[in-house]
Amino acid sequence: MRMYDIIMKKRNGEELSKEEIRFFIEGYTSGEIKDYQASALMMAIYFQKMTRKETAELTQAMAESGDMLNLSDISGIKVDKHSTGGVGDKTSLALTPMVAACGIPVAKMSGRGLGHTGGTIDKLESFPGFSTSLTSEQFISQVNRIGIAIMGQTADLAPADKKLYALRDVTATVDNMSLIASSIMSKKLAAGADAIVLDVKTGSGAFMKAESDALALADEMVRIGTHAGRRTIAVVSDMDQPLGYAVGNALEVKEAIDTLSGKGPEDFLELCLTLGSCMLMAGGKAENQEEARELLMRTIEDGSALKKLAEFVEAQGGDARAVYDTELLPKASIVRSVAAPCDGYISHITCDEVGIASLMLGGGRETKESVIDLSVGLVLTCKVGDYVHKGEPLAWMHANDVKKAEEAEKRFLEAYSFSPDVVQKSKLIKKILE
Ligand code: URA
Repeated sequence: MRMYDIIMKKRNGEELSKEEIRFFIEGYTSGEIKDYQASALMMAIYFQKMTRKETAELTQAMAESGDMLNLSDISGIKVDKHSTGGVGDKTSLALTPMVAACGIPVAKMSGRGLGHTGGTIDKLESFPGFSTSLTSEQFISQVNRIGIAIMGQTADLAPADKKLYALRDVTATVDNMSLIASSIMSKKLAAGADAIVLDVKTGSGAFMKAESDALALADEMVRIGTHAGRRTIAVVSDMDQPLGYAVGNALEVKEAIDTLSGKGPEDFLELCLTLGSCMLMAGGKAENQEEARELLMRTIEDGSALKKLAEFVEAQGGDARAVYDTELLPKASIVRSVAAPCDGYISHITCDEVGIASLMLGGGRETKESVIDLSVGLVLTCKVGDYVHKGEPLAWMHANDVKKAEEAEKRFLEAYSFSPDVVQKSKLIKKILE
């Protein structure tokens, strides 16, 4: 078999066989197939697409390219959760302690920020000392001890995806449905959970901008998971504006803590309750949505979710005092208002541009080597459909560098459109697929 022939076959729009896909994944993981040939194949897939059968084969081959975690030493139904990535998406920070406080073991593998989207691991590192470098043994023993652990993707877990993801990130081949579905599902299958709840984002801040594409992606991932014997549920949710108000690592941690303290934004809480209900039902802790939502709300009201977050932060070496005193989280030296340029209803926020503005402040990576500034970002004061007067703050910008703040402010303002007429707010939860 020759890589050249595989590229040619896909370039010409033909279906690759299981053997050809395995040949590519094994060769690329071992280094025998080079980046330039893998890039050509990714671009061919981007334009010619993959069939359902090819996508399933690619997922399985990537999942099996490294270790498959065995979580059978953890008792109970392990339910994993994954988001396709968004702006201000701090869901895992609040949701996982809520679910763990309901008795579902959370053994979660998370990632770092990517492009304009943030990552759970970067956000968690806002707790001074926090580490996600756990061995599989430490990971499993912590879940057995306190019911929750989050680790970064190790080199041994779906290494083919790790390499391919980095390659796609720099070759403009991220936003292809089959490539996203296989990337996410290969990691989820290798991470060993019994059930998987997916948050598939749609809108200007998502990789899948069109709702029809997000629905197709959700459907594809549910099929792959179900076929692999894992109960898989997908929630398609709105990412046409940032989730909640905070965008930026420590700022999002604070918003998640506020939410667990009963003072969070409505949309963010609603998404946590929707995803959490799916997790509780998949984990056998609730019969229906109503019962699940009640159990989840109780963890906020009785403080058990916040306590679980503190336990989790402490177990992974972080300063858990910050859970109860958010002044201990990283803080920016400059906090300034970004003023509304005119009167009107906010009719649109180009959401990925808000993510890029935060990245320009230092909150995300410009290159793979960049070191993130955890303290910077933006806290919006209003969302789509709200009325603002000229000069009023649209957001508070947290920065450590005046020049960066000025450039980010320009980019941020370009993301906004205004209308003199009342604007309809978009629906947060578009669809739930199982
Ligand atoms: N998240 C992933 O893990 N992979 C993708 O391809 C896109 C989002």
